[in-house]
Amino acid sequence: MRIHRILAMGMFFITLMANAENVIRVSTNQTDLVLKVADDGRLYQSYLGEHLKYEADLKHLPQGTEAFLTHGMEDYFEPALDIRHADHNASTLLKYVKHEVSKTEDGATQTTILLEDPVYKTQVQLYYVAYAEENIIKTWSEIANMEKKAVNMAKYASSMLHLTGGKYYLSEFSGDWADEAHITTTPLAFGKKVMDTKLGSRANLFTPPMFILSVGEPATEESGQVLFGQLGWTGNFRFTFEVDQKDGLRVISGINPYFSEYELKSKETFRTPEFFFTLSQNGLGQASRDFHDWARKYQLKDGQEDRLTLLNNWESTFFDFNEEKLLGLMGEAVKLGVDMFLLDDGWFGNKYPRKDDHQGLGDWEETADKLPGKVTALVEGAQKQGIKFGIWIEPEMVNPKSELYEKHKDWVITLPNREEYYFRNQLVLDLSNPEVQDYVYGIVDNLMTKYPGIAFFKWDCNSPITNIYSPYLKEKQQHLYVEHVRGLYNVLERIKAKYPKLPMMLCSGGSGRIDYKALSYFTEFWASDNTDPLERLFIQHAYSYFYPAKSICCHVTSWNRNANIKFRVEVAMMGKLGFDIKRADMTEDEAQYCHDAVVNYKRLRPCIMEGDMYHLYSPYEGPHVVNQFVDKEKKQSVMFTFNTNPRYGERNAPVKLRGLDADRMYRVREINLWPGASSWLGCNDKTYSGQYLMSVGLDVLTTHKLLSHVLEITAE
Ligand code: GLA
Repeated sequence: MRIHRILAMGMFFITLMANAENVIRVSTNQTDLVLKVADDGRLYQSYLGEHLKYEADLKHLPQGTEAFLTHGMEDYFEPALDIRHADHNASTLLKYVKHEVSKTEDGATQTTILLEDPVYKTQVQLYYVAYAEENIIKTWSEIANMEKKAVNMAKYASSMLHLTGGKYYLSEFSGDWADEAHITTTPLAFGKKVMDTKLGSRANLFTPPMFILSVGEPATEESGQVLFGQLGWTGNFRFTFEVDQKDGLRVISGINPYFSEYELKSKETFRTPEFFFTLSQNGLGQASRDFHDWARKYQLKDGQEDRLTLLNNWESTFFDFNEEKLLGLMGEAVKLGVDMFLLDDGWFGNKYPRKDDHQGLGDWEETADKLPGKVTALVEGAQKQGIKFGIWIEPEMVNPKSELYEKHKDWVITLPNREEYYFRNQLVLDLSNPEVQDYVYGIVDNLMTKYPGIAFFKWDCNSPITNIYSPYLKEKQQHLYVEHVRGLYNVLERIKAKYPKLPMMLCSGGSGRIDYKALSYFTEFWASDNTDPLERLFIQHAYSYFYPAKSICCHVTSWNRNANIKFRVEVAMMGKLGFDIKRADMTEDEAQYCHDAVVNYKRLRPCIMEGDMYHLYSPYEGPHVVNQFVDKEKKQSVMFTFNTNPRYGERNAPVKLRGLDADRMYRVREINLWPGASSWLGCNDKTYSGQYLMSVGLDVLTTHKLLSHVLEITAE
């Protein structure tokens, strides 16, 4: 191996030429991605699979397929990169120049490979950051225009991966408002399958940028080779899955090139979004736990910190509230035992008070007759009662009926020569414009400056980009989708820099905007406006493949009163617990039950929020859903059991637990019991070995509809 230079900057950093076999190896403890420089000087991906134990075997790997396929050369399948050079030549040929291996600040191993077009000098750097323990690889590309004139990029993917195995099953997550993240699995055959969005701001209304891909056979929770992929881009994305004539699968991930041909100036470099993936040899469960561990440690804002339980007023008041009512609700929050009161939409606007969703958005001054004491009275009211205060904003949007629109129509994305059309009666501000970025940043900064006691923001985004025209970008309209997202990141970066510990919920009319780049600025996200617990079992299940419980906001509401409050609370306890319900609608017992459940939840936080999650029974498989959480020391576990719609004569096998220490004794205790009730489960208050619990299991499923149990399992 030839070492070119060693830079000592407090971290390991070496520049290398490919070694004797021209092999570049990106490894985690479980996975290897092997790239080879062939005799033609080009870079090929020869392997992606289980970690190879013996270095000597690498030389046997086939050359494979060109790693980052370009348009205009010999491979006729979908390219990752498509550049129109200044002389209108549309071909790019990339040759290996060098690569570097270094340690990142967070201790991961970064491999950077430089490729260059010998004719046009276009440079492409491929980045691979490997998190060994968590088995996650983060990858992206950077494209530099070294020509004297501008070039146009028609396609500029973040990542291209090649899989072999002949059979592939793709699981996608799709839906709509209040109907998010249905999992559909389909086999991939010759040709292309594209998953993308073109919605701009509320980009994931129909589908989030994540997928699950089984190789060989459809993976189960415990078995099968499976790749989980996620793009960190809070805007239009595209995944292309293409099976070629040799049954090889090419997966291209990146910004959606739709209406986004990007002009790259001379000497300009374009950094593409990060694509995160894990390859599990042990099924879905392992991949999801690896994603959770990695996210808590490296990606999610304040991933290792606690989260605040809360009472939100949205469903109990909608827009109909005043100071007195809110102070009253704070009292209810205190009785519930939660940490915070969250004031939702409807607190702002004076010329056009926000009395419904038709007006006021953009005018972030408290409505005088609703809130005479302003936010001060609310922050102080909360503090007096010993809880925190959080507030809702939707800072990227504007109602045409607002002072902001009247003053600054030039800040709004809207077509100059057509009648406007609206999504939820609103329009999107033009975040490509730095003045607008300042304004949006100022909404949070002004509130925090005036009211430093604000402890939390719920940041909403209820409209896709409509009337697609940026007054700021003028003749560069095709940059709108990209610059809009970059503008959003500028704002969020500034907020994070000034208020590093401020927790924020990412909301978009439910989870219409959700990805791991956004979650580097947000501590949590609102999974759906649909809080019917039966629906939530599905929605939360889907998101729990990628996101840890502490990031998924789950509120108890009055949706689906056929399910009792116990069932509703227990579904919400599997995520970040909150309430959005009126105390006045509850009986004494119900209120007492909720209070006790909050106490239990707070005790179980290390297990639910920081522990390992096991999907024991999926809602997709039948009328029972069981999830288990185990803390990292295997001392405490909690199992949530839901009987949704079982048959009368159904016979159920015992539920086998997972993740415990086989050689330890555990006491099983049913918790979250109804006030005054005692458990009728045979396993309650008994002691079992971990081995028994995992290989024989507990008889906890019943044929009662909408019945739930929570078991706390504690090592003795
Ligand atoms: C969106 C959110 C809701 C609520 C409303 C307020 O729909 O998803 O939770 O905040 O906006 O208008």
